[in-house]
Amino acid sequence: MEALVWDDSCVIQIPLIDERNQKFMELAARLQELNAVKRKKDEDFENIAEALADMMEFARLHFAEEEKILVSKQFPELKHHKREHKKFIKKLMGFRRLFSEEPAKVADDALKFVQQWMPEHIKEEDARYAPFLRVQNYLAECRAMGRRGRS
Ligand SMILES: [Fe+2]
Repeated sequence: MEALVWDDSCVIQIPLIDERNQKFMELAARLQELNAVKRKKDEDFENIAEALADMMEFARLHFAEEEKILVSKQFPELKHHKREHKKFIKKLMGFRRLFSEEPAKVADDALKFVQQWMPEHIKEEDARYAPFLRVQNYLAECRAMGRRGRS
C-alpha cells in the first residue's frame, strides 16, 4: 500500500488536474492523520466523519470537472475512467452510511480503501489520459494558429 504523499510520481503534467489531485491527496492525508490518533474520543470521530465528507464533496467536483475535459476531448477510455470515479464515490457513500455504527472499523476501512485507490488512480488512470490530452491540446493549438501540417 502506498502512502498518501504527493511527490513527482503523482504529477501528470496537466496543470489544472495536478492542482486538483494534490488538493485531493491533501484531504486524504488529513483523514490518515486523524485516524492515526490513538484512543479516539467522540470529537476525533466527528473530525474523521467531517474529513470523509470533505473528501467526498471535493471528489464529486473534481471528477465532474475532469470528466468534462475528457468528454470534450473525446477520450476513448472515458467509460472506464468514469467507472473508476463512480467506484470511489459509491465506496465513500457506503463508509459514511455505516460510520455511526462502527466508527473505528469504518474509519480504518475507509482509509485503507483511499490509500489504495488514490495513488493508483492518479498514477495509472489519470496518467493514462495525460499524453492523449497533450496531443489533443497540441492539435487544437495548431488549428488555432492555422499551421496544421506544418513540417
Ligand atoms: Fe480521474
